[in-house]
Amino acid sequence: MASDTGPHKAISRRDLFFGAGVALGSAAIAASGTAAISNSVLAGKPTAIGTNVEPFFGPNQAGIRTAAQAHGVFAAYTLNDTATVDTVRGVMRVATIEASRLCAGEPGLSDTDPTIATVPARLTITFGFGHGLFDKLGLGSRKPEGFVQLPSFGIDELRPEFSGGDLLIQIGSDDPITLSHAHRHMTRVISSIGNPHYSQRGFARASGSVNPDETPRNLMGFKDGTENPRNDESFDEQVWAGVDSGWFAGGTQLVIRRIAMKLDPWDRLGPGDKEAAFGRQMVSGAPLTGENEFDEPDFGARNPSGLTVIPDFSHIRRAHTGDPTHRFLRRPFNYDDGFAEDGTANVGLIFAAYTTDIERRFLPVQKRLAEFDLLNVWTVPIGSSEFVIPPGVPAGGYIGQQLFDS
Ligand code: HEM
Repeated sequence: MASDTGPHKAISRRDLFFGAGVALGSAAIAASGTAAISNSVLAGKPTAIGTNVEPFFGPNQAGIRTAAQAHGVFAAYTLNDTATVDTVRGVMRVATIEASRLCAGEPGLSDTDPTIATVPARLTITFGFGHGLFDKLGLGSRKPEGFVQLPSFGIDELRPEFSGGDLLIQIGSDDPITLSHAHRHMTRVISSIGNPHYSQRGFARASGSVNPDETPRNLMGFKDGTENPRNDESFDEQVWAGVDSGWFAGGTQLVIRRIAMKLDPWDRLGPGDKEAAFGRQMVSGAPLTGENEFDEPDFGARNPSGLTVIPDFSHIRRAHTGDPTHRFLRRPFNYDDGFAEDGTANVGLIFAAYTTDIERRFLPVQKRLAEFDLLNVWTVPIGSSEFVIPPGVPAGGYIGQQLFDS
């Protein structure tokens, strides 16, 4: 029954792979494995959405500038106490090969389920290193400038199960089965150095359901992502570390905040109150002083009663400091985990911000919002993590190489 090209063969190779130890040399692994399985046999009849591929290799890791996929997961792991630079390097070599294969629509070399590995649907797999990874490996002095742990804020009700983490694997795909498979596979691949800490699952619109150029909406009904970098210049300025950043050049820093939304009281507000909380119009996404989504907000404009049209404590007024360096990429996913114990909606935002420097560019904005933001009435941060996202690598390289080999 099993043939050289069938899934059964792949499973026995997986056993061999693990038997030989996970941290093998990359060349040997790349030369063997499930590559022999014909993707057309495994994928059945792929559609345009299913076969879409995002390049894995390049100067920056994928999954950041990539338009948000329909499904995302932020999986954080705790590094074993026995992990060393050498073991982490070895695992990152293998993890890079496995991730690049999955993103190309190829089963991993140690894939247990090659039948569901061949519909990439814009799969991206992005790796991040938390404070714990640097500290446990004795690399504290190699943390990039500005990579600080956020202080606790008065608005925070942080829960340990949604906070921290030493190693991050962020995965996005337009297909939830592909996402689940990649998540499980990558968890196995790094299992010799890290144990699962959290897995935060989120979603955006299903691929194809709206125009991909449209700004996505969050579960409060508003367009979320209007004021974001959109071209090379603004990404170089706000997101990617510059050439003078040593090993970190081409990387970025990520803040993940799990923010619960009190949607039950929010639902009882009228549209005018909701718009006042954000400072933007619900339907068009335009600032309250404008007509179109991308009109510049006029924070000085006043109504006949002398009050500012965009309320001083609205979310966009507070988030907009006026300092052009206080800008970053926001690429959030929504979550909906049904009902909380008290029967209220257990929903919210997995807020993800990517910045060249958390301390100088992100923290001032977060501080202002924590001090005052009308939105805080209906939102509560319940998780918080920071990760360094190392630069991307060309084919043949491995993620973390610039740090571990220099
Ligand atoms: C559940 C929590 C949050 C929701 C629902 C939310 C939603 C929004 C919405 C709808 C906008 C207006 C459209 C846009 O420009 O994208 C916006 C703008 C913005 N938000 Fe948030 N946000 C949340 C949390 C945060 C946090 C934690 C930060 C940073 C610490 C932040 C920073 C910003 C910034 C910088 C802007 C652009 C302000 C400008 O116009 O210059 N947001 N947010």
